[in-house]
Amino acid sequence: MTTKPDTLMQIASEIVERKQSHVDICMNEPINFDNTAGFEAYRFTHNAIPEINHKDIDLKTTFLGRTISFPLMISSMTGGFQGAEFVNRMVAEVCQKLTIPLGVGSMRQALEEETHQESFAIVRQAAPDIQIFSNIGAPEVAQGLSHDALNLLIDMIRADGLIIHLNPAQELFQPEGNTNFSGFLYQLRQVVKRLDVPVIVKEVGSGISATAAKQLVDCGVHAIDVAGSGGTSWQKVEEVRYIKRFARDQRFSPGAMNELLNWGITTADCLADIQRYNLESGGFDDVEIVSSGGLSHGLDLAKSLALGAQIGAAAKPFLKSLLTYPDHAQQNLENTILTWMNDLRAAMFLVGAKNIQALRSAPLRKIGSS
Ligand SMILES: Cc1cc2nc3c(=O)[nH]c(=O)nc-3n(C[C@H](O)[C@H](O)[C@H](O)COP(=O)(O)O)c2cc1C
Repeated sequence: MTTKPDTLMQIASEIVERKQSHVDICMNEPINFDNTAGFEAYRFTHNAIPEINHKDIDLKTTFLGRTISFPLMISSMTGGFQGAEFVNRMVAEVCQKLTIPLGVGSMRQALEEETHQESFAIVRQAAPDIQIFSNIGAPEVAQGLSHDALNLLIDMIRADGLIIHLNPAQELFQPEGNTNFSGFLYQLRQVVKRLDVPVIVKEVGSGISATAAKQLVDCGVHAIDVAGSGGTSWQKVEEVRYIKRFARDQRFSPGAMNELLNWGITTADCLADIQRYNLESGGFDDVEIVSSGGLSHGLDLAKSLALGAQIGAAAKPFLKSLLTYPDHAQQNLENTILTWMNDLRAAMFLVGAKNIQALRSAPLRKIGSS
């Protein structure tokens, strides 16, 4: 299907409005899930005899074959409007300084309009050495991405891999959402075959069950970011946009609305389900799991690693650190990440784990279960 140039321009400008309003809404509106990500239900068993020196604790690990200084990624957020260049450059410079990976926001508009490529390309200029991941949505993948489009997604930022986001609940609430996900798994297989960099599939806040994760593994993906519920609810973000545009929403019954706005599997449940499934049936050994969705400090991260995640990731907490006081944007973001490092180091000291490998096997139990 050929899209007429004026229609293409219109789509591109709608996406710019959407990307800008996503950042504004995330900064200013109450759009968190009603529930938490579930990590408070887990406790490490205290080790009164750690037998390690706190100052020797090593936070290094690997992600998809590369060494990183700390098991944390800044999740895909933005690109494609003027302010996005500021956000992306600031975030990229901090990630470069700390040697941690970064995902950029959806690059759909950069595929549709060349002028939007700069706000993504800036990321690689600001962070020449770290792992950076491109990003595109499942609906675009389901429609079939051309060879040229796939190459552009990677080449624009010399990406180390492609992140594909699954966001059915978001698309359902989005005023202009695309709810056609049919054929996604077939197309995902083609993408994995055609790319020579790793493919990561993530949710955006409603979580990935063990069953869905297994389907992704069968398509050959290299990593799965569960992005579960407990942090940013993209249903709530899109509902704010819908109400702004149409004044009220009568698409769903009042009694169903709250459950839909909070629809999802908590991040801790996603991780525990995948870990259980892997212990019982296997199949996840060649895939790396990322824990995200509502992580709010380094203890959530520590528990994620003990629940089988290779690394953790977060979006909104870091956006807030960056933009709440723009005059100190980078310092605040860096401080937040350094504080998460201290949290993680504290947990490692108190379970006697000298390195991340040891933390992965530290005893963690669910409160109330035997
Ligand atoms: C302002 C903003 C924009 C986002 N845009 C994207 C995007 O373009 N692509 C994507 O995969 N995820 C996007 N996300 C979702 C995050 O990557 C993440 O999965 C989600 O917000 C849950 O994590 P959190 O609870 O730490 O925010 C965005 C998040 C924020 C805060």
